[in-house]
Amino acid sequence: ETVLDISVQDLEPGAHKIVVWQGMPVAIQRRTPEMIRALEDPALLAQLLDPQSRIRQQPREAENAHRSLRPDYGVYVTICTHLGCVPDYQNITSLPASGGFFCPCHGSQFDGAGRVLRNMPAPYNLPVPPLHFVDDHTIRLG
Ligand code: FES
Repeated sequence: ETVLDISVQDLEPGAHKIVVWQGMPVAIQRRTPEMIRALEDPALLAQLLDPQSRIRQQPREAENAHRSLRPDYGVYVTICTHLGCVPDYQNITSLPASGGFFCPCHGSQFDGAGRVLRNMPAPYNLPVPPLHFVDDHTIRLG
């Protein structure tokens, strides 16, 4: 199935869920205002390999400071861009309060918008999948 509708009605601010779309894990995070602000923190941006995601194409609607269609929802394919392990969604202590992803295989760290930190094995950011909002509480992948 290429299209997947996901209800986000049950997602509290700060919470996330993992779904499987086309055989790939996709993390959906609902952001708090603090998490959205953290994504623009200069101290965070200075740690990122590619803060504007120039290395790899991503949907035009995600070319913004929060790297997502809507600032309050981040949606990323959680397949590590190094060798394809599945990073966990978690807070990374070296990052401001944006949330983040940690790859258990070789230690790549990504911020809450899936952007990889410098000097990590992963060469580019986690992909943003094609998506749109069907209504205020439903995200459609594909
Ligand atoms: Fe993720 Fe190597 S597969 S760091």
